[in-house]
Amino acid sequence: MSLRPDEPILAPSLLSADFARLADALTLLETAGGCIVHVDVMDGRFVPNITLGMPVVASIRKATVLPLDCHLMIVEPLRYATDFVKAGADWVSIHQEADPHLHRTLSAIRQVGGKAGVVLNPGTPVETLVDLVGDFDFVLLMSVNPGFGGQSFIPRVFDKVKRLDALRTERGVPFLIEVDGGVGMKNAGDLVRAGADCLVAGNAVFKAEDPRQAVAGLLSEMNQGRKA
Ligand code: DX5
Ligand code: ZN
Repeated sequence: MSLRPDEPILAPSLLSADFARLADALTLLETAGGCIVHVDVMDGRFVPNITLGMPVVASIRKATVLPLDCHLMIVEPLRYATDFVKAGADWVSIHQEADPHLHRTLSAIRQVGGKAGVVLNPGTPVETLVDLVGDFDFVLLMSVNPGFGGQSFIPRVFDKVKRLDALRTERGVPFLIEVDGGVGMKNAGDLVRAGADCLVAGNAVFKAEDPRQAVAGLLSEMNQGRKA
């Protein structure tokens, strides 16, 4: 039996959109179909950049029916993770490198009704999660060093996707695999082929000449990867 969702999911990252026109970006994603909304939360401490917090997530929540996928690039995630669920996030992911008490934070997210995810930086092995399988709903593998959009894809993530896919099959636990950073038309099909279920794309969507067409193109690549 397959543990993967029926269709791969695209998670366009608002980080590359125009922050003064977020409502337009959300409408575009709703009409394009196949998307959830990736929201990058950065604190200027875990990563060298600052973006947005709970009030903005609450406003985004009111402006769309799409699921919100909040990627927390913050220190001490336990302090804020449940607030993001209360602000309207459906998926909340926390960095393994930022939290010595992952089990506690993942449980807290689930307790308030969120889907709980763990994020791994490029240098963090997937094997650090073997004793938490069943305690998270998804794993987000970074294919760039977090902090900025528009960086180059680090291909070593392919091997991590395959190892995680093998781990969930071996354990029979249906967590999702998401990949974030430098994703585009060149690698989307291959990432799904390797075992990814959900791909984040910032620049490849919102810096494209025609973002709607970019979403359609990426989803088509992903679906072909799935069928292969
Ligand atoms: C980077 C963020 C990403 C970023 C991806 O720290 O986590 O979600 O927005 O942007 P692209 O797709 O342009 O690499
Ligand atoms: Zn992200």
